[in-house]
Amino acid sequence: MELEVSNISSEDLYEILTKWVAPRPIAWVSTIDKKETVNLAPFSFFNLVCDQPPVVMLSISKREDGTRKDTARNILETGEFVVNFVEWNLLEKVKLTGKDFPPSVSELELAGLTPEPSKKVKPPRVKESPASFECKFVKHMELYEYDVIFGEVVFLVIRRELVKKVGRLGENFCECVTISTKA
Ligand SMILES: Cc1cc2nc3c(=O)[nH]c(=O)nc-3n(C[C@H](O)[C@H](O)[C@H](O)COP(=O)(O)O)c2cc1C
Repeated sequence: MELEVSNISSEDLYEILTKWVAPRPIAWVSTIDKKETVNLAPFSFFNLVCDQPPVVMLSISKREDGTRKDTARNILETGEFVVNFVEWNLLEKVKLTGKDFPPSVSELELAGLTPEPSKKVKPPRVKESPASFECKFVKHMELYEYDVIFGEVVFLVIRRELVKKVGRLGENFCECVTISTKA
């Protein structure tokens, strides 16, 4: 099959792209706004872009009305965020926090999660997460209708090692199992 991108509907294109670029890790990002209301939302247009220094990237689409999502706005206003990682038993809460709530609502509280004070940044970590990376804003790019944000990881909390990591496979989810290539 050969396909001209400009002839593919946006729904089909999303399905094809995210099926082939897979699995994608999920960043469960905690931020705070100016009033210190905690925001939590998942992002799977997310990855590690370098390790010296360690930098992660989030790509956050604008809302249909062209406004910034709360996570992007908070990071640009405060310069800080925490990437919390996800395991299978947290998935329902991840999906809940992916719904669009007004800025005054703290998704962390709503999902019954426990905020844990961070060491180097103001937004709290999610205590239930297996690992959290505290990040400081480095760079922002407006790419088409997306806010692409780069952040340097300044502090790591690893609460437990994960045997199976959760990723996004298309619109669905998957568990990733480590296969050692060492003899
Ligand atoms: C698993 C999952 C992954 C998501 N990945 C992204 C993403 O990469 N970029 C994006 O803009 N929205 C993504 N979303 C949707 C956002 O989480 C959603 O728009 C959320 O309401 C944004 O919240 P905020 O306005 O509090 O930042 C994802 C949702 C889920 C459930």
